[in-house]
Amino acid sequence: MTSTPLILNKVLVPKEFNKVASSYDFATKMSQGYQDDLDTSAQRMELKGNEKLLDLCCGTGKSTLACLKQLPNGYIIGVDNSEGMLKEAKHKFAEEINSGKICFLLQDAMNLDFPDNSFDAVFMAYGLRNMPDYQESIRGIYRILKPNGKLCIHDYSLSKNIFTKAYWFILGYGFIVPLCTFLSRSSKIYTYLIKSVLTFLSPNEIKFLLINNGFESVLVQSHASWRKPILYSIIGTKRT
Ligand SMILES: C[S@@+](CC[C@H](N)C(=O)[O-])C[C@H]1O[C@@H](n2cnc3c(N)ncnc32)[C@H](O)[C@@H]1O
Repeated sequence: MTSTPLILNKVLVPKEFNKVASSYDFATKMSQGYQDDLDTSAQRMELKGNEKLLDLCCGTGKSTLACLKQLPNGYIIGVDNSEGMLKEAKHKFAEEINSGKICFLLQDAMNLDFPDNSFDAVFMAYGLRNMPDYQESIRGIYRILKPNGKLCIHDYSLSKNIFTKAYWFILGYGFIVPLCTFLSRSSKIYTYLIKSVLTFLSPNEIKFLLINNGFESVLVQSHASWRKPILYSIIGTKRT
């Protein structure tokens, strides 16, 4: 499950996110449906509203906002290892941080510093793909989830279908890289995005990664419009 060719890049990923942190929200605004898709995945977790949730690889907090909408009485910890992305998130959620509803921590998602069984839910949007070892990452998440806790993986993923790969290739190199490079003045992280999706697990492989590591009731759901063939919510529950 380790994707060796990208490992070096993956170590450098947070540094590259630091470079684009201040333009990240603007770049994602250009990606029609970005926030709606996050909202949909968070809704699909069917939370009660009072859970303690970990937003893993929270970035500038777009995924945190999606989770916040589902948790009127809950508590969210956002974790990321890019100081620049966290700075943006902390700025946006200053009020919620002051009221004790949200907290942001600088941590490596591969080495989570939380006790066993400490979260009701984990939301990981556009995060798993950046992990140097997918299996280790899922094991770490499983450890900190409470029994019956829910995990949602929200990410770009391509089925083993040549047309889906061609679609992503054209979308990536034809639109995403040129546009985001223009907006952020940095092409490295966006070129990495395209390559990392091409070498990532298929939706079915993510499903079995979860099942093989102790999750049950795993459901794979796609998203609307032009993201239908490439974006998925994969949700599972930790065994009791
Ligand atoms: C594409 S952004 C997604 C941000 C947010 N979840 C969203 O939906 O907008 C991916 C984030 O993963 C973070 N990241 C990458 N590798 C990480 C690691 N090993 N530990 C923690 N965060 C990591 C990056 O710094 C970046 O902020």
